[in-house]
Amino acid sequence: MASASATGHNALLVSIILLATECACTAETPYAAGLSEDFYEKTCPQAASNVDAYVTKFLRKDRNFAGAFNRGVAEVDQIKAALEHSCPGVVSCADILIMVARDATAKVGGPTWPVAMGRRDGVNSTSLMADSNLPFPVLNFSGLVANLAAKGFNAREMITLSGAHTIGRTHCNGILPHLYNFTGKDDATGTDPAMNKNFAVFLKKHCPQGNTTNTIFIDSTAITFDRAYYKSVLQGKGIFITDAALITNPAGKKVVTTFSKPGSTFFTEFAAGMVKMGNLGVLTGTEGAIRRTCQFVN
Ligand SMILES: *[C@@H]1O[C@H](CO)[C@@H](O)[C@H](O)[C@H]1NC(C)=O
Ligand SMILES: *[C@@H]1O[C@H](CO)[C@@H](O)[C@H](O)[C@H]1NC(C)=O
Ligand SMILES: *[C@@H]1O[C@H](CO)[C@@H](O)[C@H](O)[C@H]1NC(C)=O
Ligand SMILES: *[C@@H]1O[C@H](CO)[C@@H](O)[C@H](O)[C@H]1NC(C)=O
Repeated sequence: MASASATGHNALLVSIILLATECACTAETPYAAGLSEDFYEKTCPQAASNVDAYVTKFLRKDRNFAGAFNRGVAEVDQIKAALEHSCPGVVSCADILIMVARDATAKVGGPTWPVAMGRRDGVNSTSLMADSNLPFPVLNFSGLVANLAAKGFNAREMITLSGAHTIGRTHCNGILPHLYNFTGKDDATGTDPAMNKNFAVFLKKHCPQGNTTNTIFIDSTAITFDRAYYKSVLQGKGIFITDAALITNPAGKKVVTTFSKPGSTFFTEFAAGMVKMGNLGVLTGTEGAIRRTCQFVN
């Protein structure tokens, strides 16, 4: 992992520069208070390498696992069980998710970023952290901007984080409104008029009206983290309403166009966005708890 850690240092620099220029933060590190890179050094030194090994194993079985990191609850719990075995009650599910997201992204060709640990798990809800951070799939551009602004992200960062749709699969459920109910009519003519016509035919074949359960890849290169997502969006081939929405605003379209180009700053900005995401709503110290399993509160 020598090359990955070298890249990690570059990403750290980039993160610090971006955070310093964009948010005038007073913090000296890019991490929320109470988090540190060596948090488990004494209590569970193998935590990071164990997570990394599991991610490799899951990706060997299913490369699409990378895109499912916010839904792959069974896999996350498998990692949790292993860590509970070696370091009982020490490593939080929130930290495991953060490590999995980073490792899985890097292993399918994406950027890497430094992660700090020390998060604790919520005691009130059964939902895993990542879900609540994802925009609701029917929002328009201003809705997306408002949704992410509430979490401290600007419009450019919202577009950057949407780039996570470069990998993964979704249930048809998530795209039916885009295919059949964009105009609120709820029938076969209700498709987003901005969608590429052939692409609409393709999607409808895989996701017939009312079929919520079938799954479909969300990007033409769904097992590789790349810039193809932004190219697709520009071609009217964004599969969610929120993907298509990105270019309905002139400034948004400009950012999407920039990110679609080889050599763009998408990867470094994505890494910085993930560092920032990892600081959102964290519980530290004696707050919350360390869950015994990730699906359930203790
Ligand atoms: C975006 O959605 C909101 C809430 O549904 C709506 O009030 C607003 O008019 C929409 N904006 C545009 C530009 O369509
Ligand atoms: C279709 O859209 C309308 C208007 O937004 C909404 O009231 C209705 O529930 C939607 N139908 C489905 C099946 O989602
Ligand atoms: C959903 O669509 C897929 C593909 O056309 C089909 O195989 C599956 O049986 C459908 N499921 C339901 C519940 O209609
Ligand atoms: C859990 O919920 C209780 C009451 O609803 C609230 O007082 C507490 O702050 C919550 N704890 C966390 C860690 O969110």
